[in-house]
Amino acid sequence: MSEQFDNTAGPLTTESGAPISNNNQSEAAGVGGPLLIQDQVLLEKLAHFNRERIPERVVHARGAGAYGTFTVTADVTKYTKAKFLSQVGKETETFLRFSTVADSLGGADARRDPRGWALKFYTEEGNYDLVGNNTPVFFIRDAIKFPDFIHTQKRDPYTGSQEADNVWDFWSLSPESTHQVTWLFGDRGIPASYRHMDGFGSHTFQWVNEAGEQFWVKYHFKTDQGIKNLTQDEANKLAGEDPDSHQRDLRESIERGDFPSWTVQVQIMPAAEAANYRYNPFDLTKVWLNEDYPRITIGKLELNRNPQNIFAEVEQSIFSPAHFVPGIGPSPDKMLQGRLFAYGDAHRYRVGINADHLPVNRPHATEARNGNRDGLGYDGRHGGQKNYEPNSFGGPYETGQPLWAPLQLNGATGEWETPKHAEDDDYVQAGKLFRLMSEDEQDRLIANLSGFIAKVSRDDIIERAIANFAKADETYGKRLAAAVAELRK
Ligand code: HEM
Repeated sequence: MSEQFDNTAGPLTTESGAPISNNNQSEAAGVGGPLLIQDQVLLEKLAHFNRERIPERVVHARGAGAYGTFTVTADVTKYTKAKFLSQVGKETETFLRFSTVADSLGGADARRDPRGWALKFYTEEGNYDLVGNNTPVFFIRDAIKFPDFIHTQKRDPYTGSQEADNVWDFWSLSPESTHQVTWLFGDRGIPASYRHMDGFGSHTFQWVNEAGEQFWVKYHFKTDQGIKNLTQDEANKLAGEDPDSHQRDLRESIERGDFPSWTVQVQIMPAAEAANYRYNPFDLTKVWLNEDYPRITIGKLELNRNPQNIFAEVEQSIFSPAHFVPGIGPSPDKMLQGRLFAYGDAHRYRVGINADHLPVNRPHATEARNGNRDGLGYDGRHGGQKNYEPNSFGGPYETGQPLWAPLQLNGATGEWETPKHAEDDDYVQAGKLFRLMSEDEQDRLIANLSGFIAKVSRDDIIERAIANFAKADETYGKRLAAAVAELRK
């Protein structure tokens, strides 16, 4: 650890500032006697210690973060009016928290698991959060399935462990997961570090320009460090030897001035083309093909400053897919729509109603102005300002300018499935991905998948799981069936 931190000179004090005479012996009723309730130093210290933890994130509990700079490198004003994207060369401060998904806070980094990619842009029009992953797609396409999915990734209520039966039962009954599962068990399923992987906004978002024209956009962050992955064997070893491998790698690289960076690219679809695209562009289990919508490079992201206090700046950091700025908005993707609710709700539970006021979370390039007040942890920042709107005392006022453009809709409300477009089914892109892999990578994919599937205790679940891969690609299914049969001999 190369950073040096100063201690404040002066005597130890209680929280109320009174000097502490003895921090090593508690106060007893006579030599060898029981302790006294008047020992404020002991009581305050024990009570504070009991309250050190806040609830860990229900997913993505393990993470590491760093501050950085986003720089615009191409003119995108014809697509969005977002001010932080308005000029080539413009810089915006950022904070990025990487994470793994399924493990709890005390787990290990080198796991086969998607990596979270939560990026906060501190823009002059408010904070814009892009809460994505290192994968362009996801396992499911409707938010209502997310808690069930995560329950199968976490600990079983009876055994207290992750169970192959639960994982494969759910995936095999949710064939839309075949694409993401193929991705996850391929080489990119265990990145060597947070620096050696790409990031994605994953969902489709709306961009809207000054003239009100709408575009659909997907974000890609291409690592300038190059993609580097771990094999399953390498990861198993590293997870045991250095559970904090990703976190350490990120901190140390920034400490030595080797700042990691990513080339920022977008795919842009004019709004009118969405209805007829070969895949439903709002289905999170699908990518848009690069040949249909080529990636355009628009910026550079560099991480160059470590947080000084992990609890304050990483554990208490909050990111919400609902944090938009003028010129950027949601798409009707059913996953994204559910997430627009879930994160603010999680923050209020996990960090409290004033989580947005903490230094890492509040706007840095503007300030929050509204009538929200008080609550646990409120710091009195508004002084005597009026706490209502409209007011005639010069208080903040509404703009009348929605952040994003309205969607045209028709039809009835209902529990509708995500509509299928001409080439949509649950398997087509999984098959494409399998066939894109080199023979070596296919071998590793089959070995990784079969090793896990072979742990399932029920034949019907195994058969159903393999059938999904066979629908993606016949060879894929056949090879997997043979490998699982071999392991279960
Ligand atoms: C409807 C589906 C989803 C729900 C309900 C959901 C819910 C949550 C919740 C409750 C948290 C913890 C937030 C906190 O305590 O601060 C979280 C964290 C996170 N989620 Fe999701 N999630 C969903 C899907 C996704 C998807 C599709 C992605 C990526 C494409 C994603 C990426 C992340 C990331 C990166 C974090 C960690 C944020 C951080 O670093 O603080 N989630 N999610």
